[in-house]
Amino acid sequence: MKITITKSDHSRINEIDFDNLQFGRIFSDHMFEMKYEDGKWIQGEIKPYGPITFEPSMMALHYGQAVFEGMKAYYADENTINLFRVKDHHQRLNNSAKRLCMPEIDEEVFITALEELMKADYKWIPKKHGQALYLRPVMFASEEYLAAKVAEEYRFYIITSPVGAYYSEGFNPVKLTTSESYVRAVKGGTGEAKAAGNYGGSFLPAQKAQKEGYTQVLWLDAIEHNYIEEVGTMNIFFLFDGKLVTPQLGGTVLPGITRRSVLSLAKEWGIDVQERKISIREIIETAENGSLKEVFGAGTAAVISPVGLIHHQGKTITLDQEKIGPFAKKMFDTITGIQYGKLNDSHNWVHSVKVG
Ligand SMILES: Cc1ncc(COP(=O)(O)O)c(C=O)c1O
Repeated sequence: MKITITKSDHSRINEIDFDNLQFGRIFSDHMFEMKYEDGKWIQGEIKPYGPITFEPSMMALHYGQAVFEGMKAYYADENTINLFRVKDHHQRLNNSAKRLCMPEIDEEVFITALEELMKADYKWIPKKHGQALYLRPVMFASEEYLAAKVAEEYRFYIITSPVGAYYSEGFNPVKLTTSESYVRAVKGGTGEAKAAGNYGGSFLPAQKAQKEGYTQVLWLDAIEHNYIEEVGTMNIFFLFDGKLVTPQLGGTVLPGITRRSVLSLAKEWGIDVQERKISIREIIETAENGSLKEVFGAGTAAVISPVGLIHHQGKTITLDQEKIGPFAKKMFDTITGIQYGKLNDSHNWVHSVKVG
């Protein structure tokens, strides 16, 4: 597919305070758009960021056929922008699309669209270490039809947003609570897809947790309410002596790209890595007997997020991690080092785009 490029005639970049970036509030000058009609993707174009029009009968609004991705572009030098694990994000987008009966996108189209967008908006990639350009590919049913069925028309966009350093004021451990009344996903449902509706459904329990003073919900399995799954937008890891444990995937957990990176690196460092069922009881017991050393979340936004406290049914365990544990810190430094091109990328995780 040939991508047409229409440049914005008025850049908004001079209005932006790059030292005070709020996550997801500011959008760069351009976006990518592509339409799906008559069984194929057509009209790939880079165009000025701006409103889109649709009719109130647009099917995504009614039946929730919408999936998305969340990834980042990092400033390496004045001619080079690094995209992290772009093929994995593409694969996950297609897996999500398949689960919701939506059309897949060619890897080449996906990567070329991102490359062209980076070239059009390279000045929007913040330069300081820790900052990045957040990339949001999104696909939704655009057909206008009030019938609960698979749509025949879709739109795909990529919009981008410069974001500040997640830890500009130092690491901030999060406080998690389990939820007694709510679940995020059930086997056979849409939990492993990055489907928009999964997030809408999690807002009420998250809001309740926040009112009680917690940062996020630590989701448990929907059947036994016993096994740990993940956190709002992060996968979770538990470090014991020489052993790193994370919940197995299996349909209810989003297969995080950061999770996969953490697992690969930990294995290379000689740690015994286990993807398995892990009960909340096991975590409470090992926290109490001192064998649980570190707990951290892993996701694109924060990369690694230390957990300082877990609450479950009236019991609270605190982790002796004032800021971040040494293992989590080493993981954070290694992954971010690779992302910004400061460390050797022996896994080929970085896709560099020449913009100069
Ligand atoms: C529900 C959920 N789990 C885990 C993650 C972490 O995934 P990733 O590392 O690919 O950002 C995310 C973020 O995308 C998420 O939304």
